[in-house]
Amino acid sequence: MNSPKKVVVTGAAGQIAYSLLWRIANGEVFGPETPVSLSLLEIPVALGGAEGVAMELQDSALPLLSNIIVTADANEAFNGANAAFLVGAKPRGKGEERADLLANNGKIFGPQGKAINDHAADDIRVLVVGNPANTNALIASAAAPDVPASRFNAMMRLDHNRAISQLASKLGRGAAEFENLVVWGNHSATQFPDISYATVGGEKVSDLVDQEWYRNEFIPRVANRGAEIIEVRGKSSAASAASSAVDHMRDWVQGTEKWASAAVPSTGAYGIPEGIIVGLPTIARNGEWEIVEGLEISDWQRERINANVAELQAEREAVSHLL
Ligand code: NAD
Ligand code: LMR
Repeated sequence: MNSPKKVVVTGAAGQIAYSLLWRIANGEVFGPETPVSLSLLEIPVALGGAEGVAMELQDSALPLLSNIIVTADANEAFNGANAAFLVGAKPRGKGEERADLLANNGKIFGPQGKAINDHAADDIRVLVVGNPANTNALIASAAAPDVPASRFNAMMRLDHNRAISQLASKLGRGAAEFENLVVWGNHSATQFPDISYATVGGEKVSDLVDQEWYRNEFIPRVANRGAEIIEVRGKSSAASAASSAVDHMRDWVQGTEKWASAAVPSTGAYGIPEGIIVGLPTIARNGEWEIVEGLEISDWQRERINANVAELQAEREAVSHLL
């Protein structure tokens, strides 16, 4: 067996954590040879809920779960942490946009970024799930100047998985058959799920679906799926978010040659200016995401990517006091 990895989940009493913690503790991120020590961070009023979750984790007798702590102290939670899922934040309600959460949720991520900076292990990887995820990740990263910016990601994987599942059901194919799909931009309704390079079983997806469906049904369906879930379920997505968070962190840690959509700090690739955390086509090697570069971009794609860049820059501007 390997030595245990310490994994922090914030918002541990919340609905996403209730799915996520079991998946992590089952070895789905670090693999079956690596025990996991869980660190559950909550706000003081929700500590009882997090304690109850910890009791249930214990009662599950999970072979890889080596230790659990429950705390409201970020310094303790992140001390020696190898991976962190920053989930704890308010979800939106019906009729709200994710960016409406920025004023309240943004404040959470600076102190957590600082605690990560001061106490986490050198190999810390941080995935921000709490909305608006891209800009919250930027806030956390700005508060952690000693941690490489590339270690702060925001989650686009749920959008990526939603896009694949819509294509899979349209074409009657299995999700695993799809390759080279990307969701560019912001985890918002402006996001751009892009099938330009996608294949299914080696065939080009764009040859199999008509443009009318792609532009007027598929893109808005994927981009608004979070709102659709809230409408139908009465609460925002939880198990699917947890599942996608596991996919993201597992691929980041263990590597994948298959394209994934991850929101990573812009490097100037595709003319996207530095200073935002943006969904891009990525693969993961040696514990780092690599941006898939050199793709041809049409004017139509460029317009959609630019709309996301403008939106992320406006969000950054709105929280400039936190950066
Ligand atoms: P929830 O309300 O069920 O749980 C959130 C938990 O976070 C609560 O228990 C709350 O006490 C806790 N919390 C609040 N502030 C905290 C802090 N400073 N430190 C630690 N914990 C804190 O919400 P949820 O359904 O689990 O969703 C959490 C967030 O994830 C929301 O912002 C939601 O919009 C977002 N989300 C993102 C995606 C994505 O794809 N990026 C998907 C689904 C949900
Ligand atoms: C989602 O995409 O399901 C989450 O971001 C929750 C939301 O507010 O849509």
